[in-house]
Amino acid sequence: MTNIVILTGAGVSAESGLGTFRNTDGLWTEYDIEDVATPEGFARDPVLVHDFYNARRDNCLRARPNPAHYALARLEKKHSGPVHIITQNVDDLHERAGTRAVWHMHGELMRARCAACGHGWDAPRRMRAGAPCPACGNGATRPDVVWFGEMPFHMHEIPDLLRAADLFVSIGTSGNVYPAAAFVQDAARTGARTLELNLEPSAGARDFDETRQGPASALVPQWVEEVLGR
Ligand code: APR
Repeated sequence: MTNIVILTGAGVSAESGLGTFRNTDGLWTEYDIEDVATPEGFARDPVLVHDFYNARRDNCLRARPNPAHYALARLEKKHSGPVHIITQNVDDLHERAGTRAVWHMHGELMRARCAACGHGWDAPRRMRAGAPCPACGNGATRPDVVWFGEMPFHMHEIPDLLRAADLFVSIGTSGNVYPAAAFVQDAARTGARTLELNLEPSAGARDFDETRQGPASALVPQWVEEVLGR
């Protein structure tokens, strides 16, 4: 019974119309990471940061899952063994395609969090700086996403998931951001076969047993049918 662990990045949502980060018209070419994706940037200008995430939340609400998201939901449902999807994405397209268990290691656009008491709740469509926490009333409310310099979520469970993997598949990520970029080596070290499905070879492509290039909406359904057909 093959235990499959999948890591997804912005490329899996690209064909749903959500921007990626590092290509020519990526998000990091329009915004400065320092201003909108660091605790310091948020402290400096919370209105700018909320505007950035409100715009991304609007894009996400208008987007639809694509065949790659649906194929992964089908894999989780039909595969005889465990399937764990770890995503670097903050969108909810995996869930809207029907995937039940998603490990959002960089947090979720549709969630809000109180930095004072830790309370979490479903984010309103538009968050505003200083809005009071529904639990403690403090104004230290923020998008429930992980910024540069902060610890990704679920890093106590993810190493165990990787250790138990028989097959590790990376989909739509450039392999530039750690710790996610090292997951392939962690999984391979404990015996997993490794596969990369990406538009082009990632920075870590040489660490994979096999790499396939192409759009996720074509590669992922094809790969899922191979796995389910076995
Ligand atoms: N199908 C498959 N892959 C694609 C597609 C597509 N249609 N379109 C783009 N890609 C690939 C690109 O070739 C690139 O390798 O997806 C990857 C996207 O890379 P990035 O833009 O760097 O996004 P990602 O790897 O998810 O970034 C990781 O960095 O900024 C932080 O927190 C942010 O979670 C993000 C993290």
